[in-house]
Amino acid sequence: MSIPTKSEAALDIMKKEYYPETWTGGLHRVLCMQGGDDDGSYAKNSEAPASAITLCKPMLLTAIQSMKLFFNNNEEGADHDSLRIADLGCATGYNTLATIDMVVESLRLRYAKECSLEPEFEAFFSDLPSNDFNSLFKSLSAKKSRNYYAAGVPGSFYYRLFAKRKLHIAVSLSALHWLSQIPDAVVDKASPAWNKGRAWIDGAKEEVVEAYAKQSEKDMEDFLRCRKEEILQGGILFMLMGGRPGSQPPENQLGDPDSRAKHPFTNSMDQAWQDLVNEGLIDEETRDGFNIPAYMRSMEEVENAIRKCGGFEIQRMEYKTLVEHSEDKQQEWIKDPVSYGRAKANLVRATLRPIVEAHLGPYLSDQLFKRFEERVSSDFTLLHKTIFYGVIVVCAVRI
Ligand SMILES: C[S@@+](CC[C@H](N)C(=O)[O-])C[C@H]1O[C@@H](n2cnc3c(N)ncnc32)[C@H](O)[C@@H]1O
Repeated sequence: MSIPTKSEAALDIMKKEYYPETWTGGLHRVLCMQGGDDDGSYAKNSEAPASAITLCKPMLLTAIQSMKLFFNNNEEGADHDSLRIADLGCATGYNTLATIDMVVESLRLRYAKECSLEPEFEAFFSDLPSNDFNSLFKSLSAKKSRNYYAAGVPGSFYYRLFAKRKLHIAVSLSALHWLSQIPDAVVDKASPAWNKGRAWIDGAKEEVVEAYAKQSEKDMEDFLRCRKEEILQGGILFMLMGGRPGSQPPENQLGDPDSRAKHPFTNSMDQAWQDLVNEGLIDEETRDGFNIPAYMRSMEEVENAIRKCGGFEIQRMEYKTLVEHSEDKQQEWIKDPVSYGRAKANLVRATLRPIVEAHLGPYLSDQLFKRFEERVSSDFTLLHKTIFYGVIVVCAVRI
């Protein structure tokens, strides 16, 4: 849809069509990464999650090496059911396929070496129903070889997705920092937790942070309770999520000041929303009705949830940091700030476009991402800062 003017009438129509009061409550219907494979798609903007996977790969492989092997003893001797692996929050693109390949191959080699068996494997690609499963299935069928049967499982990982004791391994990579909903109080004008003037919680007032932290606690517990039912005894739950070190209070979601200044959810994003308000394209209420449903947990918060849930033993748990991009890339962008702005805008499009569009509609979403791009490419101080993403990696065994 293209809307040529910003007249009152046009804005009224856009509001009716695109500002459903309850979009925050129905988040599971709209939250997803941008599908397809154009420049603003998740498939083309998933380098940071790919680096996170590379960083934690040794931990995942070690966990698989020490995992219990599963057998059925029948009349013909030792046998096995299929081995079943789920990727929860798989999105589209290369990362999920590479992860499943890695898990299957490492298990296959172990069974061959240790008991001369060739198990069958089933891989479940799970994400919210709004995920672009079509792109994922196309990539799956384009693979030259595949040692597993594949299925898509639409649904929220904050609910049950599988029958009891179905899974041997569940992984969830760069997904659990997405909350099940925006806390109601944060978008309630009458509440002290109303998050006025910000798109996210980093640096927000205490009540906002508390509301997010409470939601995060509930979500983590719901997630674990469901996986406790679904994973077989001896099976593995491997989680990698955006996180913060324990020493950092929740209002400081991102750590060092450079990361806070430069993170795509913070300053430039708030400025872009303010630009739309200043230009009369949206009113303040519309701006304040939008919040990013993400929360970076501390190690302690994750550990407490695991202990409270029971049924899992933490085998290993670490906080790690990764650099946003390489030194070469940074030098390239310093010479060409416009391409830097474009790259960063594509990154936020890939991550936020579906939820921004549910709130604003396509035309105003385009305007927002354009303002973001302009803001980022014109702030030269940002270009010289290096930012770090924090992640928490946990390997837990179902006991
Ligand atoms: C940043 S992507 C990570 C994708 C992939 N795991 C990777 O490492 O590239 C996060 C994914 O989590 C999914 N997600 C967020 N909340 C979810 C939920 N409640 N249930 C299932 N998937 C969810 C999103 O739809 C998105 O596809």
